[in-house]
Amino acid sequence: MKDFTKPHRISSLSEYTTKYDHSVADPEAFWEEIANSFNWRKKWDKILEWDFNSPDIKWFLGAKLNITENLLDRHLPDRGDQVAILWEPNDPKERPETITYKELHRKVCQFANAMIANGVEKGDRVIIYMPMVPEAAVAMLACARIGAVHSVVFAGFSSNALADRINDCDAKMVLTSDGNFRGAKTIDVKGVVDDALQKCSCVEKVIVFQRTKTEVHMEIGRDLWWHDAIKDMSDQNEAEEMDAEDLLFILYTSGSTGKPKGVVHTCGGYMVYTYYSFLNVFQYKPGDMYWCTADVGWITGHSYIVYGPLLAGAATIMFEGVPTYPDAGRFWEVCDKHQVNQFYTAPTAIRALQAHGLEPVRKHKLDSLKVIGSVGEPINEEAWHWYHEQIGKGRCPLVDTWWQTETGGIMISALAGITPNKPAHASLPLPGIQPIIVDADGNELEGNNVEGNLCVKFPWPSILRTTYGDHERCKQTYFSAYNNMYFTGDGAKRDHDGYLRILGRVDDVINVSGHRMGTAEVENAINEHAKVVESAVVGFPHDIKGQGIYAFVIAEADGIEEEIRETVSKMIGPIAKPDQVQIVSGLPKTRSGKIMRRILRKIASKDTSNLGDTSTLLNPEVVEDIIKGSK
Ligand code: WT7
Repeated sequence: MKDFTKPHRISSLSEYTTKYDHSVADPEAFWEEIANSFNWRKKWDKILEWDFNSPDIKWFLGAKLNITENLLDRHLPDRGDQVAILWEPNDPKERPETITYKELHRKVCQFANAMIANGVEKGDRVIIYMPMVPEAAVAMLACARIGAVHSVVFAGFSSNALADRINDCDAKMVLTSDGNFRGAKTIDVKGVVDDALQKCSCVEKVIVFQRTKTEVHMEIGRDLWWHDAIKDMSDQNEAEEMDAEDLLFILYTSGSTGKPKGVVHTCGGYMVYTYYSFLNVFQYKPGDMYWCTADVGWITGHSYIVYGPLLAGAATIMFEGVPTYPDAGRFWEVCDKHQVNQFYTAPTAIRALQAHGLEPVRKHKLDSLKVIGSVGEPINEEAWHWYHEQIGKGRCPLVDTWWQTETGGIMISALAGITPNKPAHASLPLPGIQPIIVDADGNELEGNNVEGNLCVKFPWPSILRTTYGDHERCKQTYFSAYNNMYFTGDGAKRDHDGYLRILGRVDDVINVSGHRMGTAEVENAINEHAKVVESAVVGFPHDIKGQGIYAFVIAEADGIEEEIRETVSKMIGPIAKPDQVQIVSGLPKTRSGKIMRRILRKIASKDTSNLGDTSTLLNPEVVEDIIKGSK
């Protein structure tokens, strides 16, 4: 099998060092060499133009391409009959589906034609609110084929959250399904869309993929079935020519204000970086079977289920189910069944499965695994060792990959088997990535054994370009904390050996099971309850989820804790439901009226021995009351 990826796969520690040094000394030459391996309709006039203060970042200026020609058409001569997507359904008794590159090409072209026939044009925004079926990937790629901008919304978000995202990007079309199988449950997806669309006037058409065969309402003139939409469509489609800096997708993520922001990624840079990072972190080789358990609703699903693997001509598994259905051995059963070589999941899943003991693991061989990976939150040492020993059998390198929706791809991680593994350390930056640790004033902390805020001082191809419709917010959030640096919002430590360890968020963001929740966003949702006066939300350590959500609420009534939890579920989705709700008489505030979250965080973590000086508070007496009532 011809291995076109070989020239870009780093294969030794010394090669890593050489490549890394080169990427810092001459970033443009470094990225140009990798970019050269793709099919461009027209090559760039200039590699990079950047100014972090505006911010204004452009890669491969003037270049023209279509990303789908690089992840589909380019592979047809050599890899057309190879597996592109292997779909494993929710129910292990249902047959898996294998889609080759040739077949995927035809499906994407056909659906692209269906979208055009239904009025979608280059630049239009399309919302994808779908279960983990291959058609979700087809939908994303069909958008990319015709130059429409996709925005995938995780199908667990509520109709309110969905409506906000549809309206924020002024979407013309929604792609969805009748329902969704998740474990033992069937979820009413179309009903959520119908509900959301009552608040959105921009959507003209809804295409509905039939998955659960449940009876759904179909709005005449607006809704049509996927199978009807593609019926008379050709399976050939001439891809739209895109500029390297044209929008590829928007993905909404939470921040420290109440409103999720639409992170924008563009065609050229995202393509180059997801390909390169996929290949190197996982050391994917032709013939391997790769599985990332994420959902396409998150950035991990975009970059490392769909785009990165397909650009590298890989076989990528899409899994519809959950780790514990029908039992806690489901992941390991799938690994054996499909002879998975690279397995990529989240610490929260590892901890949840660890809690089920070794019985479900021992039933499976897991001997095909070569690389295991972790993403989404810091992986604690105990989970790291369990994963490494029980799943990786001590022989598979474990890549702890640190990155963000905004970074588009993996930034800090071991390269499997190439650079050293260190428990609970994301470890070293990928070539092309220049992380630095700064103190509160923005001074770079050089050398080892330093701790501070994590920034990046030079652009990489898949850095976010803006936040959709609100460039100022992008500037404020990422480029204003420190001069001329991208600020990640994470704290980090460089240890005595020079390895990086991520310490978690330093802003008002809670990481629940690897998913980002803004405290203000949850507070806004809680405040929707008619009896709520004021609320403050903080994170606290949680055995399985990493962090749980603790809400302190001033309310006009008692006994409404459960109603408050339901309100949040309705406003955002079940993932944002507070684990603890405590009704309080007041919230600790500074004299200027700012809530002292530091104190609340300590109370929520049951760490009340040293609350610091509370005498300067406006209302020091509430602190004792809150401690007494805490759970
Ligand atoms: C935040 C980004 C990147 C895909 C999934 C989450 C945390 C992510 C790690 C890791 C420690 C991590 C950070 C980051 N995070 N990976 N390996 N070690 N922390 O994407 O929703 O954009 O969240 O997740 O706090 O800032 P996201």
